[in-house]
Amino acid sequence: MAGMRMTVIGTGYLGATHAACMAELGHEVLGIDVDQTKIDALKAGKVPFFEPGLPEVLERNLANGRLCFTTDYKEAAEFANVHFIGVGTPQQRGSYAADTTYVEAAVDSLVPHLQGDHVIFGKSTVPVGTAQALQERANKLISASASLEIAWNPEFLREGYAVNDTITPDRIVLGVRSTNSTNSTETRAEEIAREVYATPLADGTPFIVTDLQTAELVKVSANAFLATKISFINAVSEVCEIVGADVTQLADAIGHDERIGRKFLGAGLGFGGGCLPKDIRAFMARAGELGADQALTFLREVDAINMRRRERVVDLSREILGSLIGRRITVLGAAFKPNSDDVRDSPALAVAGQLNLAGASVRVYDPEAMDNARRVFPTLDYADSLDDALADAELVILATEWDEFRQLDPEHAGQLVESKTLIDARNVLPVPAWHSAGWELHALGRSL
Ligand code: UDX
Repeated sequence: MAGMRMTVIGTGYLGATHAACMAELGHEVLGIDVDQTKIDALKAGKVPFFEPGLPEVLERNLANGRLCFTTDYKEAAEFANVHFIGVGTPQQRGSYAADTTYVEAAVDSLVPHLQGDHVIFGKSTVPVGTAQALQERANKLISASASLEIAWNPEFLREGYAVNDTITPDRIVLGVRSTNSTNSTETRAEEIAREVYATPLADGTPFIVTDLQTAELVKVSANAFLATKISFINAVSEVCEIVGADVTQLADAIGHDERIGRKFLGAGLGFGGGCLPKDIRAFMARAGELGADQALTFLREVDAINMRRRERVVDLSREILGSLIGRRITVLGAAFKPNSDDVRDSPALAVAGQLNLAGASVRVYDPEAMDNARRVFPTLDYADSLDDALADAELVILATEWDEFRQLDPEHAGQLVESKTLIDARNVLPVPAWHSAGWELHALGRSL
């Protein structure tokens, strides 16, 4: 089947990945962003963030001519009749709510240029009701000779696995406006989505077609559930710490129950990143606006449990060292999770920053996130290598579970540090090997 033509508006993690992967599926894609430097980088085959596998997909599809980039909305309007919006919806300053101004700006910039019949698929995570509001906004901007349907097609990609998650998703969700006419049950958006995703659909990927508000809620509910699962095990972890139980064995044991499942029961420093923390807050804010604030007050607790884990690591460091002032602490990890250079709301960086503010001399090392970390926390000391990071440390904290740290040789590490004391804040190290190399280990939710 011949590929389709489409544009992808916004070329951050979500948009750049979506654009490159749609080209990989055989479509002709034009990526648009207001940020000229981002567009220049992508045109030159450079992905402006760390995402395994994406540079290869980008280069391949630039070379075969299926993928182009521009900052010009008029060009976008003329290039295709199918448009995806993948711009950011960050947390608003001074509020829990999501900031939808970038999504609105994308509609405002594109719609006046449209001629003929168009469909916009929103991919960004938005408060329920946004798609409907955008349709009304667009109806006022569109020229009399053009038509536009806005549908919602939430994205579930995980950083670090973004290419795979986009090309072979778990499920495809599509929210469309309700069809009033009795003889047509399929909107144009649904028909087009079936063509866009023909390859994964042919492989049997579940396709859920629903109304706009359900599609919007699916996305935030999925992330709220994942956050709740992590905070659940971290709350149990707090109790384990008091009674000397082992949260990792407990998670294995309950995880065998298929109804529970072991995934996302990794107890430790908790969740961060650009999605989970922001999405649970935006969900609470939206529920409040809708008069259903009580329904989601438990998410406040999910957030609080998560934040307490960071404090616990700082407190534990103080307990171990007696005082933090002037002590040399090495934090391994700055990214919010491995295989990413993203430091947005990173638990690792939050701990490093708090220890530093409490007077410790903190040295940080991360395989990929050093530049981003430096920008957020310029006052921390950044090591050039893992060995350099470990040199003379009085306490080591494993805060992001990169393979490089999991596979660290405890004998070798022991020769570099001043004191063989380590907090495994992600519960990932092989404890017996570290013990036999003479290390004193501490962890969250279990005594070692
Ligand atoms: C998440 C969702 O998984 C994805 O579907 C959505 O599209 C965007 O948000 P992402 O932010 O990339 O993806 O990270 P994810 O892999 O979900 O991890 C989130 C955080 O939870 C990380 O900080 C991770 O370290 C933490 N985590 C995860 C735990 O603390 N314990 C676990 O068991 C799993």
